[in-house]
Amino acid sequence: MTTTPVDGPPLSIRQVERADLLDVFRIEKTCFSQPWPYTAFESFLGEPGFLVAERDGVVVGYVVSDTVPNYGRDIGHIKDLAVHPDHRGDGLGRQLLERALVGLVFAGAALVKLEVRESNSPALALYRDEGFEPTQRVPRYYQDGEAALVMVLDLDDWQRQARAPDPDGPADPPADDPDPTTRE
Ligand SMILES: CC(C)(COP(=O)(O)OP(=O)(O)OC[C@H]1O[C@@H](n2cnc3c(N)ncnc32)[C@H](O)[C@@H]1OP(=O)(O)O)[C@@H](O)C(=O)NCCC(=O)NCCS
Repeated sequence: MTTTPVDGPPLSIRQVERADLLDVFRIEKTCFSQPWPYTAFESFLGEPGFLVAERDGVVVGYVVSDTVPNYGRDIGHIKDLAVHPDHRGDGLGRQLLERALVGLVFAGAALVKLEVRESNSPALALYRDEGFEPTQRVPRYYQDGEAALVMVLDLDDWQRQARAPDPDGPADPPADDPDPTTRE
C-alpha cells in the first residue's frame, strides 16, 4: 500500500521481507538501549503484523504486532515500533501504529496492549493521543531498572472515535505467536 505523501517521496507501508531485516535491525540498535536480537526479528518473518515503512526504497521504520487468544476476546500486542531518527516527526510512527491497529481489528482483537518506558515521552504522547490508557506500572521492567507502563486500547472505542484510518488495503490478520519478546 502506498500512502499519499505530504512532503517528499511516497511512503509505502508493507509486510516485511527477509531482505529488510538488516535495515530493521540497524534501526532497532539505533533506537533502543536494549535492542531485540536479529533472530527475534527473523522469527517474525511472514507474520502479517510485521510491517515496514519504506520511503524512496529505504526502510525507515517498522512495527511488530501479534494477537494472543484470550477466552474469545483476543488481545493484540504492539511488540515493537520504531522510526529511524532522521525520519521522525513526520507522521510515520502514527501511520505504522494505525496500520498495525487496523490489522489487529481484522484479526479479531478486542483490546491492544503494549509496554513503554515511563520516560519515553514521544512514544507516550503518541500512544495517549491514539487512545491508549496506562493501566499498570511495572517497576524494574527493563534491564537498567526503569519501570514500564502497560497501556491498553479498546479497539471498539478506537474505531468509534474515528481514529482508525480508512483501510485502503488492510493488513492481513496477524497469526498467533507465542514469542514473549518485550519492548522498551
Ligand atoms: C515513538 C516514535 C515511533 C514516534 O515516531 P514519529 O514518526 O516521530 O512520530 P509521529 O511523527 O508519527 O508523531 C506522532 C505523535 O507522537 C508524538 N510525538 C512524536 N515525537 C514527539 C516528541 N519528540 N515529543 C513529544 N511527542 C512526540 C506526538 O503526539 C505526535 O503527534 P503530533 O505530530 O500530532 O504532535 C519514534 O520517536 C521512535 O522511533 N522512538 C524510538 C523508539 C521507541 O521509543 N519506540 C516506542 C517503543 S514503546
